[in-house]
Amino acid sequence: MEKLQVAIEKARAQREEARQNVAQNPAEEQLIETPGDVWAELPSFDLKPRVVRKNLLVSYNAGEDAGPFDMLRTRIIQHATKNSWRRVALVSPQKGSGKSTTTANLAFSFGRQRDKKTLVLDLDLRRCGLSRILGQKCKHNMATVLQREIEFSEHGLRFGDNVAFGLNNGPIGNSSEILQSNRARESLDEIDNCFNPDIVLFDLPPLLGADDTFGFLKNVDCALLIAEADKTTIAQIDVAERQLAELTNVMGVVLNKSRYLGNDDGYEYSNG
Ligand SMILES: Nc1ncnc2c1ncn2[C@@H]1O[C@H](COP(=O)(O)OP(=O)(O)O)[C@@H](O)[C@H]1O
Ligand SMILES: [Mg+2]
Repeated sequence: MEKLQVAIEKARAQREEARQNVAQNPAEEQLIETPGDVWAELPSFDLKPRVVRKNLLVSYNAGEDAGPFDMLRTRIIQHATKNSWRRVALVSPQKGSGKSTTTANLAFSFGRQRDKKTLVLDLDLRRCGLSRILGQKCKHNMATVLQREIEFSEHGLRFGDNVAFGLNNGPIGNSSEILQSNRARESLDEIDNCFNPDIVLFDLPPLLGADDTFGFLKNVDCALLIAEADKTTIAQIDVAERQLAELTNVMGVVLNKSRYLGNDDGYEYSNG
């Protein structure tokens, strides 16, 4: 009994000593009270030069080739700041327009904007576009995050200090129901609260052929339409823009794979 009393008194004395140390040193108090840096705790990755070349990641390194994406990034930031938008959907009428390639390149451009924290979420759940383009394998997919079966902190991958990706490890069938579910909305709000990003880029499924994207657009602030030069017709762009405008703000149209614009980069942006 006496031993127990001694142990209790010792523990009390240690607690009191810790309290006094904190009072004398506020920085230490801050250290104790601030939760872990959720960004720093995400596992980080880098890209192999072969992947960068093969998958047209021209914005991976700063420089002339990255110029069009840096410009697009800056225009997105300007529009987003002016309108208090944060969640940006990247959409295209059909698959193969270069939406995931554009999303990945934009992510690297946003990474160079060091005062902004950017989340890039691949919600084209029927394909695994971004993980293939980045050459990354992961254990889970964004469907499990959206269904709140796992936390984004258990799944996200960090590039540099200020970009985090949510990727997929395989196609899933019930994408449409997941994307328009209440759970998905709650999951995104939770990610927002926890990671507090300045911008969230969503790589979404093609508009034609499925209702996946239409069901999800209620969760975003605006959409950027990626069209494929030579392939997406003016009529398709027009229909897509009008359909988008019923559900969200249309930020603009990016004409990808263009050979006729007097520039070598294959990208052109017009304000919507
Ligand atoms: N600007 C571009 N110039 C040439 N090829 C491109 C360009 N953007 C994308 N691609 C190619 O087009 C194909 C489809 O691109 P991807 O980004 O997967 O499209 P989506 O996500 O719209 O289905 C890929 O082979 C990709 O390398
Ligand atoms: Mg894709």
